[in-house]
Formats: sequence, structure tokens, C-alpha cells
Amino acid sequence: MAGRIPDSFVDELLQRVDIVDIVNARVPLKRAGKEYQARCPFHDERTPSFTVVPQKQFFHCFGCGAHGSAIKFVMDYDGLSFPDAIETLAAHVGMHVPRDQTHRDEQDSLAPLYAVIAEANQWFRAQLAKHPRALSYFERRGVSAAMSERFELGYAPDRWDGLLNALGPVRRDEMSAAGLLSVKDDGHAYDKFRDRVMFPIHDRRGRPMAFGGRILEQGEPKYLNSPETPLFHKGRELYGLSLARPAAQKSGRLVVVEGYMDVVSLAQHGVEEVVATLGTATTKDHAELLYRNVEGVVFCFDGDRAGVAAAWRALESTLPRLKDGRQAHFLFLPDGEDPDTIVRKEGAGGFRARLDRAQPLSDYLFATLESDIDMTTIDGRARLTARARPLIDSMPDGAFRDLMRQALADRSGARRVTVANEPAPVRKPRPAGAPRTLVRQALALLLAKPQLALEIELPSGFERVDKPGSEVLRELMQLTRDRPLASATELIEHFEGSTRDALIKLSISEVPGDETAWREDLMSALIKLIEQSDADRRQALSEKLRSGALDEAEKAELRVLLARKN
Ligand code: UTP
Ligand code: MN
Repeated sequence: MAGRIPDSFVDELLQRVDIVDIVNARVPLKRAGKEYQARCPFHDERTPSFTVVPQKQFFHCFGCGAHGSAIKFVMDYDGLSFPDAIETLAAHVGMHVPRDQTHRDEQDSLAPLYAVIAEANQWFRAQLAKHPRALSYFERRGVSAAMSERFELGYAPDRWDGLLNALGPVRRDEMSAAGLLSVKDDGHAYDKFRDRVMFPIHDRRGRPMAFGGRILEQGEPKYLNSPETPLFHKGRELYGLSLARPAAQKSGRLVVVEGYMDVVSLAQHGVEEVVATLGTATTKDHAELLYRNVEGVVFCFDGDRAGVAAAWRALESTLPRLKDGRQAHFLFLPDGEDPDTIVRKEGAGGFRARLDRAQPLSDYLFATLESDIDMTTIDGRARLTARARPLIDSMPDGAFRDLMRQALADRSGARRVTVANEPAPVRKPRPAGAPRTLVRQALALLLAKPQLALEIELPSGFERVDKPGSEVLRELMQLTRDRPLASATELIEHFEGSTRDALIKLSISEVPGDETAWREDLMSALIKLIEQSDADRRQALSEKLRSGALDEAEKAELRVLLARKN
């Protein structure tokens, strides 16, 4: 039975490991004289102030003050407890961790639970091979033998005492503490998982600590999960994390899905950087755990109402963890689909393409908050501010939060302040007398302040306007609505060739009039455009009428145009 780790062993371990190896395997180091340097993994920085000193076997960050031995580094970087960090380092140098039998701590009581779960896991796996019904279930769902192996899938037979007998009734209390049994009031105990395919849930170090069991046919509950035990706290664990880690470290991102089968199915198609929440909302602990491993997280939800609610909870849990450099995206799948069905239909390529198009957190936040607000009114914009402010305030201090505040100010109509790292547009007075058509006026206004497109209602008839450049104007208008946070520079990137050149020129020209009047100016330019184009059409049709060449449809159109004029 495990006990306290003797101090003498810790000292010896620290003699044998080299902190440079340990750190370098996680954060590539550069030699700088007698020391090594890197950008600090514990805070966001551009220039390296994180230093590893081999002579003294410690790390120190001159930026954030992080400091300690190899043990401290592994604890903080890998997110491990002290005993787990010791185990990790000992394994690295091939040492066995002795346990002091005279001191027992909490770890002692956990060891037998891990042991009993590990045995149950082996037994469930062995049962899978013996039960064709369970095997064919996985086969039907397209799970390969390799994936069954990777995820250690199993089967709990349809018996009340299968596991109980296999592990021996003397282990009853351990099994019960590990959540493997149900115990009736009269003390009678029986297998909790019966006739279910089994998904073991592993801790961060890859040890099984709990299970999810799925019913083979229809029935309730579809998934039965281990209860909370000393080993297992649902709100703090993510299914598949230990297996997802290598791929996540390579791609720099983790994808969070809702279901066990989604993780298995995506891995089978080669998308390995995937974890699942265990039938619970995404908690702040989940968010912390995710960002301890990667900088980028994509939350992927079903497009149904439950998915939408789950996504919002994920956003609320994520915001307080969004230090600079971290990113969150949201991906909603079409109603009725989940990652499993999507990857089967569209393959890894299709799923990855969806990931790449996922909505950035800021877009998702504002779009959701504004969905039932009339943003053209002052009242509506005040409501947006009231809703968004507490969320943005929950973010950690940093440039990301500043940008969110700026975005809120822009959208709620507060005066635009120049953000330091956005190059201020160079405004040159346009050459006197250069012609400025209505289309060019409207374009220039939009480029000076893209948010104008969100503040106005498109006048009806705008879609009919047929003037040079009116197509570009419509496109820019739509683009601005689709990407409400994009700057003019970003919007222009969507155009090519001479159109792009023209837009760039327009964007650096001076817009006449006071900024407070721009919204009116844009609106009146659009209305004038509609009037002009109606007038042009009226004239063309009238001329045709005089020459007697007007057909019935054109006559009707002319009547409408004349009526509209009055
Ligand atoms: P879903 O009902 O969306 O199922 O539950 P699924 O993942 O698509 O499962 P398959 O494809 O039918 O096998 C999503 C997740 O919610 C949790 C599980 O973690 C499940 O994977 N859940 C669901 C439960 O914990 N209990 C349930 O009864 C149902
Ligand atoms: Mn599914």
C-alpha cells in the first residue's frame, strides 16, 4: 500500500534528474551562456525572460516571478499533484518511488481504488471479446479494433454479480467506494454496470478512474456514468485528455465535444486532439485544464437548443481563463448531427474544414447578446452594454480584454478610440474636384466606419440599384454585417484586383462632414441612389413608350415607378 514519499527519496530524485531535460522536453530552450532561456510558459510574453539555471537546478522567470525545481515545474506545467510529479520524474530516470509506511496520507486510500478500477477495466475488456453482441455493437458503429484497443473499450455483461464475483466479494467495499456497485438499503450489493458497452475514463496520467457505460439498444439512461468518488470528479475531468495530448501539443489546439463516441469516432478518422465533457456543462476547472495544455480551444456543439445552452455555459466558464495568447472558438453543427455523424459523412477533411471556420469567441459573444436587441436604437445599445460588461469584466487583465472593451464601445456607439496596435488610417484630403459619385460616397463612409452597416436598416429597393460599383457596395455591406468586428483593412482583403485598389484609395481619402452625421449621410446616399436608379429606369421606359415599343410587363413596371415617384 502506498504511503508518504520519504524526503530522502525526493532529494535523491532531484540529484538524478536534470531540470534542463525536463523543461526542454516541454518548452524548447535556447542556450544563453551558462543558462538556458525560453518564453515563459506561465505568462504571456514576447521576449524570453524565463531562465533555467543548470548549476542550481532551478527555473526562474524574471517576468512573472515563477520559480522552482524540476518538481515544481512538472507540477505547474503538466498540472500534476506533488506525488504525481514525483512519479513522472522517477519514471523519467528509471527510479522506483518507495513509500514510507509509517506516514500515510490521502494517497494511501486512493491506491486501492485505482487498483480495483484497473482490474475492473481489464475484466470489462476481456468480456468484450467474449460477447458477440457487444462486439457487433461496436462493429455496427464502425469502431475499429485499433480504436477499441486505444480507448480500452469493454463490455459489462447482463448479470447482477458478474464483476462482483470476478473481483471477489472480499473486495466489495473497495468496489463500492470506486463506484462500481450499487448498494441497496438492506446492504445487498450488485453490479452497477450491466449489459452496457464500457468506456473507461482516464485521469491525466492515463490511469482509469471511472467509467461511462452505454446501453446497447434503446433505453434510459443511454449513458450511465460512475458516480463522484474520491478518484473521480466529473466537473474536473475530460474524457480522452491523456490520449489527446500528443496531437494537441502538435496542433496547439484541443477540440471539446459532447460525447464519448464523438471522441472515439474522430480519433478513428485521424482527428486525435479531441476531448469530451462528461455529460456536464463546461466548468471553469475544465477551462483551466484545457488551457494548461494548449493555447487554442474549439468548443463543438450540436446545433440543437441544448447545444446552444451548453455553448453559452462554456463561454462563461472560459472568459475568466482567457489570458493573452489564448483563444476560444465555437463550432455549431447542423441540427440533428454530432461530430460522429459529421466525420463519417464528411471525413476528417470535412470536419477540420468546419473547425477552421469556427466562430471566434468575440463574434459569438456579441452575436448572441445582440440577437434579440434592436441595435439601431440607443436603448438597445445600452442594453448590449449592460449585458456584455460583466462578461468582459470577468476576463483577466490584458490586451484581449482591452480589445473586447473596444469592440463593445464600437458596437454600442461610444466614440471610437484609436487602439494602439492598429495602424491609424492615413487621411489625405482628396484632390479638389475629383468626382465622387453616390456609390463612392457610400463606400468611403463604410470604409471609414464599417459599423455603420450594422446601424442602418437597408432601404428597400437598394437591391435594384444598378450603377457602376453598386455590386461592390452591396458586397461590402453584407461582409460588414457578417463580420461585425472586422476593420476596414480586413474587409478590403476580401476583394481583388482593381476593385481592391479602388477601395484602398477610398479608405485613405478624407470623408467630409462630422462623424456624428455619417450614419445619416450613408442612409441618404443609399436613398438617393435608389431614386436615381428609379429615375433612370423611368426615363428609359418612357422613351420606349413614346416609340410604342413597351410590352405589358414593362408597362406595369412603369406604372409602379411612376406611383413610387409621387
Ligand atoms: P448524446 O445523447 O448526444 O449521445 O449525449 P451521443 O454522445 O451522441 O451518444 P451516441 O452517439 O448515441 O452513442 C452526449 C453525451 O452526454 C452524456 C454522455 O457523455 C454522452 O456521450 N450523456 C448522455 C450522459 O451522461 N447520460 C445520458 O443518458 C445521455
Ligand atoms: Mn452520437
